[in-house]
Amino acid sequence: MDFLCYLLVLALLFHQWALGSESRSEIGLLTQELLESAREPQFFDWLRRVRRAIHQNPELSFQEYETSELIRSELDSLGIGYSWPVAKTGVIGSVGSGRQPWFSLRADMDALPIQELVDWEFKSKNNGKMHACGHDAHVTMLLGAAKLLQQRRDELKGTVKLVFQPAEEGQSGAYHILKEGVLEKNQAIFGLHVSPYLHTGVIASRPGGLLAGSGRFLAIIQGKGGHAASPHKIIDPIIAASSVILALQQIISRETDPLDSRVISVGFIDGGQAENVIPESVKFGGTFRSLTSEAHSHLRKRIGEIIETQAAVHRCTAIVDFMEEKSIPYPATVNDEAMYEHVKRVGESLLGQPNVQLESLTMGAEDFSFYSQKMPAAFFSIGIKNETLKSDQPLHSPYFYLDEEVLPIGAALHAAVAITYLDSHVADTH
Ligand SMILES: *[C@@H]1O[C@H](CO)[C@@H](O)[C@H](O)[C@H]1NC(C)=O
Ligand SMILES: [Zn+2]
Ligand SMILES: [Zn+2]
Repeated sequence: MDFLCYLLVLALLFHQWALGSESRSEIGLLTQELLESAREPQFFDWLRRVRRAIHQNPELSFQEYETSELIRSELDSLGIGYSWPVAKTGVIGSVGSGRQPWFSLRADMDALPIQELVDWEFKSKNNGKMHACGHDAHVTMLLGAAKLLQQRRDELKGTVKLVFQPAEEGQSGAYHILKEGVLEKNQAIFGLHVSPYLHTGVIASRPGGLLAGSGRFLAIIQGKGGHAASPHKIIDPIIAASSVILALQQIISRETDPLDSRVISVGFIDGGQAENVIPESVKFGGTFRSLTSEAHSHLRKRIGEIIETQAAVHRCTAIVDFMEEKSIPYPATVNDEAMYEHVKRVGESLLGQPNVQLESLTMGAEDFSFYSQKMPAAFFSIGIKNETLKSDQPLHSPYFYLDEEVLPIGAALHAAVAITYLDSHVADTH
């Protein structure tokens, strides 16, 4: 009897193992097919052409009119329907049955006010504007995924929403997309960001908190200007501003748990013009970052209080502006654990286990966080580093350069994550 039980358990274990390895090898087959398709010369050429066209014509936040037009024309060629305009320049494509589950893939479209300093054939043609954060690659990888998904549209067990989002660079485009309600029936979302810190062919992320939430502030310290030789006859806003800026750092060093990550950085100071003149006022501004909304509220409150009261110590007055109407503060980006595991598994099958790495938490910020507040979300970095190509320059650098080998990889990853998500969630909706 015992022996029979033992056999039964063995048989069950074998069955489980066989099922597991079957689904593993199915994913393996799918990911390899997708990557091979995206790397076919014709497909890859198209990806490069699209990316270079966007790279040459960078457009700033909420001005992505021609980028949006290019996206729509490519979707038209692929026979993919879309909603437009969503949040001014955004486009939401839709592939699959139209039925639940709905899964979203997101790419941001905007460029930066930077003059490109890389000399190459397809450099920016728009003076003072550059795709220095790789959003041109994000759009291209999502269009690549659109093509891969459309080729398999009859096998999709639900709907994939392709979210081409405006204004990631400081203007909360994601918030505006969500406000339009187009993703309300959506169950989960995935996004990618290129990284010059990871080699091409490597992706990375982490479960839970990944990126900080961030806010901005602008302060004006008002004094009374006059001759620098007679400080007793003026009210010096330079001394007041200096004192305020130093005092702000004590919010971090004296009011924050040393194990709770927060940052305040003043990024500019603007005041006075001559060595012997005390100016009427000094203006400065900065960013503050933290990992929770409670920490954000604390920083915001104390920054306001300290600027106003420290200015008063020096007989000045102060105005503090958090500019929240123009640019809504970004919440922290938090990866859903199950979504993270899902992407990790797909990534390992696409790129090999050692090429899916655990990323460190950083105090950078991303408006992808608005999605992560609303639905299970995963955000991954995808490597573009190749020293030969010098594609190891930091994001937002005028020397930023992309290894275009990332394009088919990102396209295949997007598509594989979406297809396998639908496969494993189709039953949930019945
Ligand atoms: C880096 O780029 C060069 C030039 O395109 C290529 O020959 C090389 O194989 C790349 N290296 C890696 C590790 O992919
Ligand atoms: Zn950026
Ligand atoms: Zn970016």
